[in-house]
Amino acid sequence: NDEKRLIIVAYRIPFKVTFKESGERVLQQNSGGLVSAILSLAEKGDVFGKNQKIHWFGYSTPDILQEGETQVENENFIVHPVLIEDALNDAYYEGFCNSTIWPISHYYPYLTSFNEEDYEAYVKANKIFADQINAFIRPGDMVWIQDYQLMLLPGMLRSENPDASIGYFHHIPFATFEIFRLLPKQWQTELLKGMIGADLVGFHTNDYSQYFLRSVQRVLGYDTTARDISIPNRIVRVDTFPISIDYNKFQELYNDPGVIEKRKEFLKDLSAEKNIFSVDRLDYSKGLIHRLNGFEYFLDQYPQWHTRVVLTMIVVPSRETILKYAEMKHELEEAVGRINGKYGTLGWRPVIYLYRSLSFEELGALYTLADVALITPIRDGMNLVAKEFVATRTDKKGVLILSEMAGASLELNGAILINPTDKRTLAAAIIQALTMDEQEQTQRMQMMQDRIRVYDIFKWTEDYMDQLDIIKLKQMEFE
Ligand code: UDP
Ligand code: G6P
Repeated sequence: NDEKRLIIVAYRIPFKVTFKESGERVLQQNSGGLVSAILSLAEKGDVFGKNQKIHWFGYSTPDILQEGETQVENENFIVHPVLIEDALNDAYYEGFCNSTIWPISHYYPYLTSFNEEDYEAYVKANKIFADQINAFIRPGDMVWIQDYQLMLLPGMLRSENPDASIGYFHHIPFATFEIFRLLPKQWQTELLKGMIGADLVGFHTNDYSQYFLRSVQRVLGYDTTARDISIPNRIVRVDTFPISIDYNKFQELYNDPGVIEKRKEFLKDLSAEKNIFSVDRLDYSKGLIHRLNGFEYFLDQYPQWHTRVVLTMIVVPSRETILKYAEMKHELEEAVGRINGKYGTLGWRPVIYLYRSLSFEELGALYTLADVALITPIRDGMNLVAKEFVATRTDKKGVLILSEMAGASLELNGAILINPTDKRTLAAAIIQALTMDEQEQTQRMQMMQDRIRVYDIFKWTEDYMDQLDIIKLKQMEFE
């Protein structure tokens, strides 16, 4: 059997595994952007023109496997758990991934740890992925590696499989060389060499692509053009593919019976004239404190809006075992307390803060009841929440206030674009949004929806995979 297979590699596997009291295993499909995109290929029965399951390698603890198993499957995916023991995983995931690469890539050098053992763990963990995939891969397969947890993996697969079709996608920003160069030279070199083990390296914005190319030039000394790197015996393509969402799925949410019911329920409690809404993982890159500072300044400057507006801020727990994340939670809760204490009344809390995740229906209800979505990252690879909010607004109402520092700001030019560090601009944007007439809201929404409808997650996947095929052909000419 020499069918061409699609192999996805990501730190996270595409479903949650739980067990019933009876011991029966339950696989609950995740529904994030990437997973839905890949899933749709399997559901359409069109994985390289065939009806076949998609292979997915991702980190897991051994408990998801039952006696004698090495993989877990549902109707669409065959998941190959990559087992990494706890101490190694801590140094890898909490350490190098989320205390080194994440902060440096989001322009937080002072939060970046430069720990040799963490780097070694990162190399080891990537190697565990590599060994398992190298043992599995066959000529003709396409391997598509996702995100910064696996930057060394493309190189590790390439050295064993010189002709393989290997893609890598970087879902977070790639920082300018002046920031990237803060990493020890050895790490810079190995990370870049790892990434260019791929045939196609993808980013969400043209800036990230260009910064990457510049680093490759400076550190590795290879010649580059606007989107190609010439390395001995091979061309590597670097290109921009802004990730998107399943537009139709979000469009349908507005009139989904479950969402309608939730919306009614929430609107009973949220009785203010205007609702401002945000949802993010708890992360320093999301600008949560800046958002609150801007909102506080707005309350201070516009007392006529007191009691008439509420900011509902949903903060989804994330990376809680990392000290900076735990500290941020305190900082955030203190700021919420301060604002509510200062401006609130017996009947009105200006900020409603929830620290938990939402069901899809709750998310849909909050997206569709909001008058304003206030999305203020200091740095964000893309920000899908912004796209999801826009896509749910079948009513063509609602205003998006979006940070210029989110990748999504390049596509969503119907938003009010702001720099979240500037509380005056933020307060002015809030006023502009609260007082915007319906006609302008509709115009802006329409413009943004047109973009996301045309370039949805399926187009993203198709574009990337087509480009990977194209570069493979070009390489053959090159040889
Ligand atoms: N989301 C979620 N659980 C929630 C709330 C939101 O999974 O309780 C989803 C949200 O719908 C979006 C994703 O989390 O698809 C967040 O993606 P984004 O690009 O905005 O930020 P990231 O968390 O990847 O930095
Ligand atoms: C961002 C990253 C993903 C990551 C996600 C959630 O979107 O680009 O790779 O999976 O955040 O973070 P977590 O640490 O929980 O995987």
